[in-house]
Amino acid sequence: MRNNQFKKEVEEYTASIPFDRRLYKQDIAGSIAHARMLARQGIISDKEAELMVMGLSSIREEIEQGIFELRADLEDIHMNIEVRLIEKIGDMGRKLHTARSRNDQIALDMRLFAKEAISETTDKLVAFQRALLDLAEANKDVIMPGYTHLQRAQPVLFAHHLLAYFEMLQRDVERFRDCLKRADVMPLGSGALAGVPYPVDREFLARELGFGRVSQNSMDAVSDRDFIIEYQAAASLAMMHMSRLAEEIVLWSSAEFGFVELAAAYTTGSSIMPQKQNPDVAELARGKTGRVYGNLLAILTTMKALPLTYNRDMQEDKEGFFDTVDTLLSTLDVFSGMIATLKVKGERTRQAAEAGYILATDLADYLVRKGIPFRQAHEVVGKLVEYAVAKGKSFSELSIAEYKGFSSLFDEDVYSITVESAIEARAAHGGTAPEQIERQLARARKIVRGEDVA
Ligand code: ARG
Repeated sequence: MRNNQFKKEVEEYTASIPFDRRLYKQDIAGSIAHARMLARQGIISDKEAELMVMGLSSIREEIEQGIFELRADLEDIHMNIEVRLIEKIGDMGRKLHTARSRNDQIALDMRLFAKEAISETTDKLVAFQRALLDLAEANKDVIMPGYTHLQRAQPVLFAHHLLAYFEMLQRDVERFRDCLKRADVMPLGSGALAGVPYPVDREFLARELGFGRVSQNSMDAVSDRDFIIEYQAAASLAMMHMSRLAEEIVLWSSAEFGFVELAAAYTTGSSIMPQKQNPDVAELARGKTGRVYGNLLAILTTMKALPLTYNRDMQEDKEGFFDTVDTLLSTLDVFSGMIATLKVKGERTRQAAEAGYILATDLADYLVRKGIPFRQAHEVVGKLVEYAVAKGKSFSELSIAEYKGFSSLFDEDVYSITVESAIEARAAHGGTAPEQIERQLARARKIVRGEDVA
């Protein structure tokens, strides 16, 4: 009795079926390819392989229809499917595990899963980029303050700000595509660790399962979880980018900024304060970034002292990975919608850009063009700002005599310095000038269409 009690506890403790059930499709696809390969190589008969493939396909249907009871006492998805296959096609089902181990099997399943996750992730990243691009194009003329230290610094086009996120996301896309290269390696045929003593055709398996390459070292193939870690590192960066945007949306949608208005669907009211429209979606994305980082650190820590080759610790690679994939994909979905429905309040952003002494750098540049070194110009304008603040005047409210009090180089044309002229002036490659925004928009459009850009 007591022994049974222990057995049950250990069974529950070690079982992975509550979460690796998610790999049933990959596991069955791997088994079908394996059965076909065994027959091609004369390791089992064609008839046997055919029955196995039929059995495996019908197990997939049973799982999809929800009529297959997965058993915790069978530990994992691999054993559940294999035992069911034997139930269905009889003892010959026991031959399926020839030239295979659960160690190369799980490595395969995770790689198949990761490859699919990567392609979904890049699709959704591009969809989100498209939403940012559309919003930038629809608000091409909107002027806002650019910030450093969250202090108004220099005027910029709102599109320029959005396109900064476009660039970050493009690097994310590239990171995931790069990660795919290393996930795209077929491990079956590695056996438990040392390889298999059968004439397997690993290239055939790779083709059947859509892999670009086969693994080169069986010990590495069953031990390696780098591809999962890489995905999570790339996911952490992507979430970090979205979290920064989330933070800006929280700020911008506040009454203090009033730069944007979120569609009602992306806010929720307060249960006590009827006036509130809380930016919960943005806040949750910012919050969920923490757990994506946590999952990355968890798997790095799990792997860090494992001797070669497979160790059961590695079963812990799954839940965090799945959670990160789910979190990233759902965050990308809601962000695309949130950005697509965002209302930009161009009047407000413009007022904010005109307030204060945001054109101070441009006044200094004005003096530089009249012939004095930038450092000196900076000092002159510094004093001018101090004076204007004390007088409670904006730059445009200062008289020419007041200007001349700080430098004789100031002339009537100083009044032609406006937020527009400041923006237009920044026409060097990558700057906020309208022509540069046009260039960036055109380039971004090509990128989301999948066209080559320089
Ligand atoms: N459930 C295991 C995992 O996820 C599958 C591989 C098990 N291999 C073993 N020798 N117990 O890692």
